[in-house]
Amino acid sequence: MRAVASTDTVDNGVQVSSDSGLDQTRRGFLGRLTAAVAAIGALVAGWPLLRSLVPNVLYEPPKRFRIGNPESFQEGVTFLEEHRIFLFRESSSFHAISGICTHLGCTVKFSPFTLPQEETVRQFSYRALGEFHCPCHGSKFRGEGTNFSGPAPRPLTCFHLELSPATGELVVDTATDVPRDFRLVV
Ligand code: FES
Repeated sequence: MRAVASTDTVDNGVQVSSDSGLDQTRRGFLGRLTAAVAAIGALVAGWPLLRSLVPNVLYEPPKRFRIGNPESFQEGVTFLEEHRIFLFRESSSFHAISGICTHLGCTVKFSPFTLPQEETVRQFSYRALGEFHCPCHGSKFRGEGTNFSGPAPRPLTCFHLELSPATGELVVDTATDVPRDFRLVV
């Protein structure tokens, strides 16, 4: 006949050892702890692989966008701050010039003349409403965009304009440069 441990009990003839129960609880806890540590280790080790499955996406603003109905723009020049574009309207004729300085990318300011002036720049004659001045390092640009003073190496960019067939709004395409004599007549 086996001696029953002091912590053992007999219940309906079934021997129950409380020492054995404690051991099982301890083993269960250690098992779960080991599994958790292993899972964390696997996650840390596998993170570079998981990350490599997600492409690095650079979200850039769209290069082609609507800016509004032609009638909504006043005669003369309107600065579209959000897009850093100057929109020119002369009656039913429109054109768009970038406000980004070609030196280091500051936003140029439009400095209007008291009265419009007839100008000819590189054999292109036009009615100048003013000039562009860069506040950063002093570059200056003619009213059609040509650089003439300061460190800017190139003229301001002129962008393609068209009418949206769906809404009739003006659409600027900053991915498409156009010659400085480009005009959209609506
Ligand atoms: S950024 Fe315009 S002159 Fe330097």
